[in-house]
Amino acid sequence: MEKIIINGPNELYGKIEVHSSKNSILPILSASILAEGKVILKNCPKITDIENMLKILDSLGCEVSFIDGTITIDGQNASKCNISAELSKNLRSSIFMLGSILSRFKYAKIAYPGGCDIGKRPIDLHILGLKKLNAKIIENFDGIECIGENLKGNLVDLSFPSVGATENIMLAAVKAKGDTTILNAASEPEIVDLQNFLNKMGAKISGAGTKKISIVGVAELKGVEYSPISDRIVAGTLLIATAMCGGEVVLNNFNCRHLESLVSILRKSACKVKCKNDKIYIQSKKKLNFLSKIITAPYPGFPTDLQAQIVAAMAVANGVSEVKETIFETRFKYIDELKKMGADITVNGNTATINGVRQLTGAKVFAKDLRGGAALILAGLAAFSKTEVFDIYHIDRGYESIEKMLHRLGADIVRGKIEE
Ligand code: EPZ
Repeated sequence: MEKIIINGPNELYGKIEVHSSKNSILPILSASILAEGKVILKNCPKITDIENMLKILDSLGCEVSFIDGTITIDGQNASKCNISAELSKNLRSSIFMLGSILSRFKYAKIAYPGGCDIGKRPIDLHILGLKKLNAKIIENFDGIECIGENLKGNLVDLSFPSVGATENIMLAAVKAKGDTTILNAASEPEIVDLQNFLNKMGAKISGAGTKKISIVGVAELKGVEYSPISDRIVAGTLLIATAMCGGEVVLNNFNCRHLESLVSILRKSACKVKCKNDKIYIQSKKKLNFLSKIITAPYPGFPTDLQAQIVAAMAVANGVSEVKETIFETRFKYIDELKKMGADITVNGNTATINGVRQLTGAKVFAKDLRGGAALILAGLAAFSKTEVFDIYHIDRGYESIEKMLHRLGADIVRGKIEE
């Protein structure tokens, strides 16, 4: 087992490449089994969610390799259409294997998915969407079975713009007979990336990035080479780290438009942020101003995946800030750990009120989930003295060597073995 050790406080300076997006690559990996030929994905990070997704593709009979950031999938000999609990429980994104397995094999059986413990995470919208496309769904105690001998395009009106449900429906509709329209679709950049990947394979999809996505079913999809977009949550985490520690950082190969909500609040909080072509520059010279009301919302609102990180930043800002989490029910588990470092935060329902303190103090803290764990690392960077973060396997699900990224920007941070 490993831990991350940080000696603070730190300032961050330098330039860094942002690795490509976990939440873009995962649905694209699912889509890859629909290709008649090889799929090659460039510049992919070595993170456990991707490695677990490749294990799922391998279990279906795909030939997969992951060498120096390049993933190659050849799904032509895939023959299995079920995913075991052992593989499915490791991550949320096993759920949108349903759409692609159903589309390919007309039958799918998967155990219920896993993922961060941040809420109930139901799959009713996924099931509603697949039923609308003429699939028969049988829900058992340990998982679900889908029969889709004759998937047909249809109108699917989502009661909530679920990212995963939107992706699952796209994957089941892309080769269905006829046209599908998804209303109240999720509009995250990762959905646009999935559309662009599928269209490069020969799909006919339009409207991703808006609330209405139109899909004309096609007969065949071909293998392609593709470079997924940069990870906006990794980028946002690095921007918030710089904002709360102080310093000057440039993120290369990043599309600023994917983080407009964060950029505008960092500017409000006294950071200088400039976007030019595919670079984003941030300078933070003084204590952050408090932020009266941050509310997480579906894209283009403030991302729930940056909620923990901005709370950590407000823990050392001037004044009292308020952060409301509207997407997941229990995404404040990291706050008790921040309190061990001296943070002054009270939680009332889905709202955290943060009374900024002069400085946090290093402590032994435990990651409870992916983004909450990242927030603890940010707090350790800014804190006085030594912080040790345990259970960092949560963090390794979505950040490739987070300690190396931050060390490259000058932080005193290492990964170490936990003394037995
Ligand atoms: C995706 O999860 C991301 N994961 C999450 O990122 C992200 O937080 C989330 O979208 C919201 O942006 C991946 O892309 C792999 P949802 P997903 O379906 O698809 C409710 C990270 O840190 N809902 O948009 O599971 C659900 O309970 C992870 O990288 C239903 O009610 O998110 C939640 O309250 C964490 N019924 C809300 O919608 C359903 O059938 C948002 O869920 C599906 C979802």
